[in-house]
Amino acid sequence: MECYNEWVDDVLDKVREKMGWVSEKNKNKIPYQTDKDGNYDDRSDSSKQWRIDDGLNWWTNGFWAGILWLLYQDTGEERYMEIARISEERMEQCFQDYYGLHHDVGFMFVPTAVADWKLTGNQNSRKIALHAASLLAGRFNPVGKFIRAWNDLENDTRGWVIIDCMINLSLLYWASEETKDPRFRHVAMMHADTVRKNFVRPDGSVRHIVEFNPETGEKIRDFGGQGYTEGSSWTRGQGWALYGFMISYLHSGKQEYLDTAKKVADYCVKNLSEDGIIPIDFRQPKEPAYEDSCGACVIAGGLLELAKCVLPEEKKKYEEAAAKIIRAISEKRADFGRTCDAIVQNCSGAYHSAEHHTTMNYADYYFIEALYKIKGIGKLLW
Ligand code: GLY
Repeated sequence: MECYNEWVDDVLDKVREKMGWVSEKNKNKIPYQTDKDGNYDDRSDSSKQWRIDDGLNWWTNGFWAGILWLLYQDTGEERYMEIARISEERMEQCFQDYYGLHHDVGFMFVPTAVADWKLTGNQNSRKIALHAASLLAGRFNPVGKFIRAWNDLENDTRGWVIIDCMINLSLLYWASEETKDPRFRHVAMMHADTVRKNFVRPDGSVRHIVEFNPETGEKIRDFGGQGYTEGSSWTRGQGWALYGFMISYLHSGKQEYLDTAKKVADYCVKNLSEDGIIPIDFRQPKEPAYEDSCGACVIAGGLLELAKCVLPEEKKKYEEAAAKIIRAISEKRADFGRTCDAIVQNCSGAYHSAEHHTTMNYADYYFIEALYKIKGIGKLLW
């Protein structure tokens, strides 16, 4: 994407400068969000009282290492590898705890263990990643042909499936490619087929949560989840669907997955505002003007993968949309200063959360990943 070289080069220089000191300052943490003073928290701090799945088992814990592996691929600096491994080694404890793990082992162990194995051939990482893949495959419901999402905490979630899991499938495809055992890929593709039929609406918008009867596989209902309401269109979920179907297409070659990614992408492009800023939900009310920069970066990442797999006239459309989003983040929502450890601002966990416009480590991950995709630097970890 040569036409974007100048501004992307400039932004990447700022990213390298910032991540240089941020990684050093936080090397003994597994950060997720910054506090009011701009300092990262530490999800691996065992002196804190965490819920079963929000301390060391927190689903975003892999993204810190993911950011560092992106920087390692770019700069070749060994210290990024060393810091990434601090969190990877800590996360081995999650298998002992077990109860906090659920379908998000893909988010957790692809940017840590799979990345380490792919980039350095670390044998222990391969073992960790295969262990995680087996846990993920074990959540497959063969009657409903879906991977169960979360564990029961506030709700009975035995039949719950969420769009986010499309990204977790990457771990299963990798496990089949690595072991030459097709079981993992079969599970991933059966899940992807269920999602294609039950989550993606004819206009390309997607549902966040669908509940199936875990005994019969029959569809029961859907929920608005982290979006505005039932029938709405949570933007990060659009991103998970778009990027997730691209991952399934890249690993399986199944045309329907590419077609689905395109359908979701076209819907996102159609709803993209002039200024490139993404709301929490494409169907939320105009006010309050809640945003989700994280959803924006995930959508951009999916568009950039899609652009590589389509004809030239379509390629331009997807590249331009992705560049518009990433440029808007770079110019209006990025903090490259010294008073905040995170770069991307104005991220929102969910429309109905008490808090909006925070930082999130995975927004930084997808932002940096998108910049590298535009420049063609590094290999795809997913
Ligand atoms: N996977 C949960 C989220 O996107 O917030």
